[in-house]
Amino acid sequence: TQGFTVAIDGPAASGKGTISKAVAAHFGFAHLDTGLLYRAVGAKVLLGVDALDAARALVPDDLDGDALRTPDVAQEASKVAALPDVRAALVDFQRSFAARAGGAVLDGRDIGTVICPGAQVKLFVIADAVVRARRRFEELSGKGIDTSFEYVLADVQTRDERDMGRADAPLRPAADAVEIDTSSLSIEEAVAQTIAVITAVM
Ligand code: C5P
Repeated sequence: TQGFTVAIDGPAASGKGTISKAVAAHFGFAHLDTGLLYRAVGAKVLLGVDALDAARALVPDDLDGDALRTPDVAQEASKVAALPDVRAALVDFQRSFAARAGGAVLDGRDIGTVICPGAQVKLFVIADAVVRARRRFEELSGKGIDTSFEYVLADVQTRDERDMGRADAPLRPAADAVEIDTSSLSIEEAVAQTIAVITAVM
């Protein structure tokens, strides 16, 4: 599985992160949540750092911590993600990760379209916005992050619009992506469907 890449894209809280983690564990692939890159830059911007400086100076240690999970950091992430220079500064790290021996799963917004257009498997994971916000609200509450369903729903909807509407690497399915709608799927069902899609091309 040298250089075998699975690209999983989709809107905020669609389930792509959960699916990616489970699928990577199943196949023994490495997993990169590329949203963390933009969240790490967004978190630095909230501390007063210039976005491009932050993107250029990013180190793997910056990608850790529940502090990156808050809706406020997510909003800032989606703002910096609309800046072409910031996106460009993060490309090499993602492509090197994808090329590692042993296979890799990358999840984000532009993995199948821009970062890894040659990925062996491309998935586009969607779900109803209210379902997504409810899941994300429960996840954040479980982590002790103080927020409300309404706040999370507004975050998800604002980011979807911004991410789909930007000129550079907008959120959209690659032409050859397989779509999975997780609105009425359990995690187990969504993971099983994804594993079946990957196994079919291996
Ligand atoms: O996936 P997550 O919700 O953590 O991503 C946070 C934000 O980072 C997204 O709303 C999006 O604006 C940006 N992002 C992106 N490209 C990616 C991953 C995330 O633009 N590949």
